[in-house]
Amino acid sequence: MSVLPIVTYPAPVLEQPCARVTVFDRQLGRLLDDMYETMIAADGVGLAAPQVGIAKQVAVVDIGDEHGRIELINPVIIEARGEQIDVEGCLSFPGLFGEVPRANYVKVRAQNRRGRLFTLSATGFLARALQHEIDHLHGVLFTSKVIRYCDLEELEG
Ligand code: CO
Repeated sequence: MSVLPIVTYPAPVLEQPCARVTVFDRQLGRLLDDMYETMIAADGVGLAAPQVGIAKQVAVVDIGDEHGRIELINPVIIEARGEQIDVEGCLSFPGLFGEVPRANYVKVRAQNRRGRLFTLSATGFLARALQHEIDHLHGVLFTSKVIRYCDLEELEG
């Protein structure tokens, strides 16, 4: 596994829709492993393929809870309910944080690295992380949804 360079804003790959994955091969597995290692090295809780320069519908999430490492290929939100507003950041926007409204509950259908379909239900912070990463796969950045930016002193205070 290797740590990949993270693409930071502005970069065209961050704002374009990603292609669906149709081939579930060893190369995809390697991409997922590298993305996970990259996310951990950057102290993140999620990473989408365009953030390593690859416009494919691939994302990894690990918020450090019992769900562990979540790999999402071609993910789709099939249910969303409720609302939460909390502070969000993004590895492609170092040092930038803002309050973003998100659904409080989502059900996601995706494929795993072998192409098998699964569904995942999540609330709270995990639901937020999933929505953030799935947005990336459609070229949607959290900055387009921020309702109020935070300054670092406020967060640390
Ligand atoms: Co992000």
